Amino acid sequence: MGAQIERLAELVASVKASSRYRQVSEALIREIGARELARRTGFKEAVKATKNKLHQVGGAYLTDKYDYNAWLSELTRLAHGEDREGFLAYLKTIMNHHASTRERLPILEQFYQTILAELPPVRSVLDIACGLNPLALPWMPFAVPVEYRACDIYHDMVDFLNHFMALLPVQGQAEVRDVLQDCPTRAVDLALVLKTIPCLEQVDKTAGSRLLHTINARHIVVSFPVHSLGGRARGMQNHYATGFQALLDPAWSVKRLEFATELAFLITKDRQ
Ligand SMILES: C[S@@+](CC[C@H](N)C(=O)[O-])C[C@H]1O[C@@H](n2cnc3c(N)ncnc32)[C@H](O)[C@@H]1O
Repeated sequence: MGAQIERLAELVASVKASSRYRQVSEALIREIGARELARRTGFKEAVKATKNKLHQVGGAYLTDKYDYNAWLSELTRLAHGEDREGFLAYLKTIMNHHASTRERLPILEQFYQTILAELPPVRSVLDIACGLNPLALPWMPFAVPVEYRACDIYHDMVDFLNHFMALLPVQGQAEVRDVLQDCPTRAVDLALVLKTIPCLEQVDKTAGSRLLHTINARHIVVSFPVHSLGGRARGMQNHYATGFQALLDPAWSVKRLEFATELAFLITKDRQ
C-alpha cells in the first residue's frame, strides 16, 4: 500500500515537472495517474499515458499561443475605455484560442439568446468545465443581475477568468475543480455543461450520468460538438444524441436545440 502511494506521488511529481501540465489540477493528475498505474506495470508508460490523457481532456483544445497576462492587460485597457466594439472584438480573438469557444463564435449570439428565451429569469449560473466560455458573458442576455460560477482544471486559466469577470458587472467566480471527483452541488437556476461529457467520459464512462444527476440546477444545458477536433462530422450528432438519452432520468423534460456548430439539449429537472 505504502509503495503504491509512493509510486503515485512520484508519478504526480513527474507529470507536474513538465511545463505543459504544471497548471493542471493535482486532483485530476492523481486520479488519472492512479488508473494508469493500476493498468500497467511500467512506471514510465504510466507517466506517458497520464500525460496523453490530460492532453486529450484539456490541452488538445487550447492553442499553444495563449498569453493570459497580455490578454488581461489589453482587456483591462479596453474595459476602461469607450470602445465597446473593440472590447467585444478582442474577446472574440481570445475565444479563438480554445477550440470549443472558437466553434461557437459563428453562433454566439443566437446560442445564448435561444437558450435564455426558453427560461424564466436566470439569477445564478454554473459553468462546468468552462474553458474560455465565461468570455462569452457579454453575449448572454440575462434579464436580471447574475451570479456566475465557473470551474475548469487549469490554475492559470481560472486566475485569468477571475480577473476578467471582475471587469464586468457580474458577480463572477471561477475555481479549479476536477468535476469527476468533486462535482459542484450548489443550487443554481442554470448549469452549462457545454461539450464536456465526451471529454469526461474518456476518463470515466459513468461521468456523464453522475454529473447530470449530481448537479443541483433547475435547468441544465448539455451540448455536444458536431465536428471532431480533426473536423470530421459523419454520424457524430446521432452518436451523441443516442448516448445522451441513456444518461437521462425519466422525470426530467428535455428539449433539443440544434445550432450550426453545436447540438444542445435543455434539461428541466424542476418543472415548477
Ligand atoms: C471540450 S472543452 C469545453 C469547454 C467549454 N465548456 C466550452 O464549451 O466552451 C472541455 C473542457 O473540460 C475541461 N475539463 C476536462 N476534464 C475536466 C475535469 N475533470 N474537471 C473539470 N474540467 C475538466 C477542459 O480543460 C476543457 O476546458
